Amino acid sequence: MNEKIKIEDKFRKKINLLKEHNKNYFVNDNPKISDAEYDEIKKELLDLEKKYPFLKKINSVSKIVGALSPKKFKKIKHLKPMLSLSNAFDKNDMEDFIKKINNFLNTKNKNLELFCEPKIDGISATLIYEKGILTKGLSRGDGITGEDILENLKTINSIPKKIFSQKVPRLIEIRCEIFIGKNDFEKIKSKFANPRNAAGGSLRQKDPRETSKIPLRYFAYGFGAIEPMQFSSQSNFLKQIKQWGFSINPLSESINGIKEIENQHQKIDKLRSSLDYDIDGLVYKVNDLNLQKRLGNTSNAPRWAIAYKFSAEKAVTKIKDISIQVGRTGAITPVAKVQPVTVGGVVVSNATLHNEEEIKRKDIRIGDVILIQRAGDVIPQVVSVDTSKRKKESKKFKFPTKCLCGSITIKEFSKSTKKEDTVRRCLKGYDCKYIAREKLKHIVSKEAFNIEGLGKKVIDQFFDLNFITEPADIFTLDYSKIRKLEGWGDLSIDNLKNAIFKSKNISLEKFIFSIGIRHIGQENAKILAAFFISSKDFSQIFDRKSREQILKNLIELDGIGETQVDAINNFFSIEKNIKITRNLINQLSIKNYTIKNKDGKFSNKKIMFTGGFQKMSRSEAKSIAENNGGKVLGSMSRKLDILIVGDSKPTRKKIDQAKEFKIKIITESEWNKILDS
Ligand code: IVH
Repeated sequence: MNEKIKIEDKFRKKINLLKEHNKNYFVNDNPKISDAEYDEIKKELLDLEKKYPFLKKINSVSKIVGALSPKKFKKIKHLKPMLSLSNAFDKNDMEDFIKKINNFLNTKNKNLELFCEPKIDGISATLIYEKGILTKGLSRGDGITGEDILENLKTINSIPKKIFSQKVPRLIEIRCEIFIGKNDFEKIKSKFANPRNAAGGSLRQKDPRETSKIPLRYFAYGFGAIEPMQFSSQSNFLKQIKQWGFSINPLSESINGIKEIENQHQKIDKLRSSLDYDIDGLVYKVNDLNLQKRLGNTSNAPRWAIAYKFSAEKAVTKIKDISIQVGRTGAITPVAKVQPVTVGGVVVSNATLHNEEEIKRKDIRIGDVILIQRAGDVIPQVVSVDTSKRKKESKKFKFPTKCLCGSITIKEFSKSTKKEDTVRRCLKGYDCKYIAREKLKHIVSKEAFNIEGLGKKVIDQFFDLNFITEPADIFTLDYSKIRKLEGWGDLSIDNLKNAIFKSKNISLEKFIFSIGIRHIGQENAKILAAFFISSKDFSQIFDRKSREQILKNLIELDGIGETQVDAINNFFSIEKNIKITRNLINQLSIKNYTIKNKDGKFSNKKIMFTGGFQKMSRSEAKSIAENNGGKVLGSMSRKLDILIVGDSKPTRKKIDQAKEFKIKIITESEWNKILDS
């Protein structure tokens, strides 16, 4: 036997042994070896994997160990969603952030007071105190529902179990980031890829005693629900909870204006390597909580906060080849296959080249020595080419004009920019297997069906085996076939079955987002769901005649423009898309859209604005109307209930039309009175 085969053989045997003991322990509840012996097998496997990276292709030890996390934590709905943050990468992005806030609030305050805190690269959790007593502790989960990890959180000594103060609100939810210090991580390094994974793994331990072995720490950075509310700013909130005994990051500061933002950024970036915990940027928050409330959220992130990331880590490597990748919308992205190199602790072997233009502009060629960078979770990018190291015989890269499926690709004409797109696309949709595969990955993603255990890698595998070729197949999987695959046991199959079963219950807005119509993101999907209300009404769009009428109505919705309407039309003009969507609907139970604020001031009223307002921006007016149950239209219609006319340059034609249609017209001051009432 040659050496490699011998090692593989040894590895396989040990993996099987590990799996057997997993089954004894987790499924049969009948362990045959001690924990120490189990850990020993695990360690031997990890050592082998480290020494011979090619073994990772056979199986990943950490995945087998990770896939166990058999403890079913109880799912609990968050009192308030746990959102993510938008990112900024440079000064321009930060100026943009401030501009957008001023636009929304209709102010011109360039020195808006911001509160700045380090962004800790850990695991987020939320702590709920009722009458000052810690009663619940949840992980973030999908942001809407978290997992009950209270017992594990309680092992962290510095988390108060009780708040000793007369002033504590009846209910207060403290949001925090859990992490492992860099020094502490050194001691347990062999078991985890990085401190963040270690913290996550520790928090998900079945037995809190295991959690307590790993030295977890935390910083509190925010709040969820508070009843009654008693804070007026982020800074005084943090000051108060610090007095109550919570751990607060000492590098937090109040900041005014772009100059201070830049200074703070440089100052903390310099400190970064000397800190005992990982940070990947700074979070800037509007300090005034009243303004935060007015600004509100988009579907994923608050408008009042942003994460300003530190500049990416860079490394030099060489391009071995350039290939193309096909995205779920058919977009063709060139990818550089590079000589593996470590950037910021992660081995990188692919880097994106964005598009054809970018390759041309930077004259990037196969064989070139290049500088790449990696920032956070973003795909590594090629920054520049060192042409001095280029060989004479090197040739310009010829961009392929065909998709991986063999079809021609085209650059579409964009109606909105009136220019040819920079991106080449394959237009075959589900008929291109590369697109189909990506569409399926989108369907199972966190923002869509959110099926735990059915990630990108599993989709790749199931797609190659023809288990899943269209979305509906997810719900009719033949589990006996999966059971025969390596790495799948009774437990993981049960978990998958459950996760898939649960995902059948889906809201109309998530469903619309999931089917992956181009230009229909989460926000637009919500607008469409509010329009259609039920999946039955949505299905009318399959019929060509009804579709024409529906599209005419859609263009009237605020937020939906010609681009979206064209995209919807294109999508459903393809018979196959209709069939696939129908098949999927048949497997699901789609919940009707429910208007969030049924008894709001404008519930079920169709509203339109014209002209600029003194007191608030159009965006704020729109969000207030929607939060009060109203539907904001983008163009005049007989169905409109109220036209609100701002003082600055209202459109005459709209007012005349409203009069003709006998629609109620109110002025800005009347609008303000309604809001105050
Ligand atoms: S504020 C509405 N402040 O970053 C979200 N988040 O990308 C407000 N994080 O889930 C988040 N340090 O887990 C905030 N000082 C800080 C933070 C912080 C780390 C994490 C947090 C959040 C994620 C968002």
